Amino acid sequence: MENTTETTNQIKVKWRCPSNIAVVKYWGKKPIQIPCNSSISLTLNNSYTEVKAQLHEKTTLEPVELNYYFEGELNEKFGKRVADYLADNIEHFPFLRIAAVTIHSTNSFPHSAGIASSASAFGAIALAMLDIAYQLAEKELDDNFYNEASRLARLGSGSACRSVYPSFAVWGENDKIEGSSDDYAIEITNIHPIFKNMRDAILIIEDEPKKVSSTIGHSLMNDHPFADQRFDQANERTAKMVKILEEGDIDSFIQICESDALTLHAMMMTSSDYYLLVKPGTITAIEKIMQWRLEHMVPVCFTLDAGPNVHVLYPDKYRETVEDFINTELKDTYKKVIFDHEGEGPQKLNID
Ligand code: DP6
Repeated sequence: MENTTETTNQIKVKWRCPSNIAVVKYWGKKPIQIPCNSSISLTLNNSYTEVKAQLHEKTTLEPVELNYYFEGELNEKFGKRVADYLADNIEHFPFLRIAAVTIHSTNSFPHSAGIASSASAFGAIALAMLDIAYQLAEKELDDNFYNEASRLARLGSGSACRSVYPSFAVWGENDKIEGSSDDYAIEITNIHPIFKNMRDAILIIEDEPKKVSSTIGHSLMNDHPFADQRFDQANERTAKMVKILEEGDIDSFIQICESDALTLHAMMMTSSDYYLLVKPGTITAIEKIMQWRLEHMVPVCFTLDAGPNVHVLYPDKYRETVEDFINTELKDTYKKVIFDHEGEGPQKLNID
């Protein structure tokens, strides 16, 4: 394809990128979007963002001309964050020097559902914009494409870099994990059958926007009294988790996963500007999950994001019994539940 303004203006692409849930958390970062510790997450399936990106003629002299629509409406706030991201990384998207872009973004899950929307959104944006760059350079979407997309997604939102891979992904340099990097995530492929198609039921305890953003939360790790211990612990746990996933050691999985969720919130509670994101319903749900596990000897555990909602993780083979427990005994703790599971990663979609 000849790379003229005319052909550039005809390009449109559509990508779906899932969200992910970390089992060892990224919390604390350095410029530019470099994590203070390695982390590992499970890519989801039903919770995703779809992004349609279309190039057209520029009408202003702005370095990046972007119209950003979320759920059909112009969204200036997130649009500004995306425009800044594209401008900061324009060397990867050189076509934006001669063309404007309109992005339509939709989520499969409700806003403020405690699902990391910046992870799926920046995953999808990075994939779509890089796909355009590849088309203009007449390059194939090979493995290197996903590696580059992961790096670019990270520059938008750290956790997004893990969403461009299926199953489990590690982000952050870790001397015990071959190929790991601070710049992009890598897929963990050696997974024991017990962890295949892992389930995640997301209990929406509160659906109001978070009172402290993750950006502020990360920055509070800069002078946190326990920062160094936490970063060492997370690196150790991430390396252990890779072995656990390989060996099928579900008890150790549960222990690390739950402890890491509580450690994340302990960091918030012990920072100089301390704060609390868990709600009474969060604690009730956690206690019920731990008690039910003991009574029924079923490997189910919880994790938390930077918010009050509880992610219930369990192997596919225990799906029926755990979902029955969620629908009955846990019912009073949540407003809504979203049943999700391990996904196969992002998908390029046909343009409608
Ligand atoms: C608690 O990726 O949202 O979900 O890089 O500033 O966009 P930014 O932060 P973000 O932080 C996610 C933190 C977390 C843990 C995790 O996903 O590892």
